[in-house]
Amino acid sequence: MVAIIGGTGVYELPGAEERDRTIATPFGDASVTEVRLPDGETLIFAARHGKGHAVPPHRLPARALLWALKEIGVTAILATSAVGSVREEIPPGTLALLGDFMDFTKARATTFHDGPGVVHQNVSDAYCPTLRSALRRSAERQDIALHPDEVVYVCTEGPRFETPAEIRAYRMLGGDVVGMTQVPEAVLAAELGICYAAVALVTNLAAGVQGARPSHEEVLELMASQGKTLSRLLLGTVRELGKDYRCNTHPQAEGMA
Ligand code: HPA
Repeated sequence: MVAIIGGTGVYELPGAEERDRTIATPFGDASVTEVRLPDGETLIFAARHGKGHAVPPHRLPARALLWALKEIGVTAILATSAVGSVREEIPPGTLALLGDFMDFTKARATTFHDGPGVVHQNVSDAYCPTLRSALRRSAERQDIALHPDEVVYVCTEGPRFETPAEIRAYRMLGGDVVGMTQVPEAVLAAELGICYAAVALVTNLAAGVQGARPSHEEVLELMASQGKTLSRLLLGTVRELGKDYRCNTHPQAEGMA
């Protein structure tokens, strides 16, 4: 089964039938919605920040959510992510697939492998190539413009925006976009052997890029105007994947959930 994790500005999907579920996990309860699409396809939707955008990025219960998704049989996750652009050549309004990330978070639980025992998770393929191809096919089929290159996501701790000096540093390091939520979400998916891909929507130029001073209002305004396109892209991708999606890039991890 496929799950969609909706980030800032993506709080629901247009579905014929919806059923809210609360799933108990060792990391607390997780809330998800089962959505049955008009064509009969069932998928899981989770609003990353909760309905009404209540939970700030540094306090997200990511372990509970990812554990719950694994437990109910999710094998692939498509996520959305509002981001600031570190490069003026990737302007607001751009939709881009994430290809890799850099982790600048500071105080989060970022793993299920908390001991006893030592596990070093490989995250070279944090963004599943099979899912990325399905997203590109969905975009082409629906005439939705996707940035030609996959972008490098810099994950900051938040909830404050970055300083212009931080953004200059991230640009020099090879970052393309900046946000606050891919870590640990993408890492936890890898640990559980769930295929994961994310589409970034550039909502603003990051601090200092062409003199930008980002604001939360600006982020919400862009999401409000582009959120529907993003939902269309994701729902089209669920159809591309079909019911029995399996991927051999990510052999399912055993014994985790
Ligand atoms: N910085 C960090 N996170 C963000 C931004 C930003 O500029 N825009 C949207 N999410």
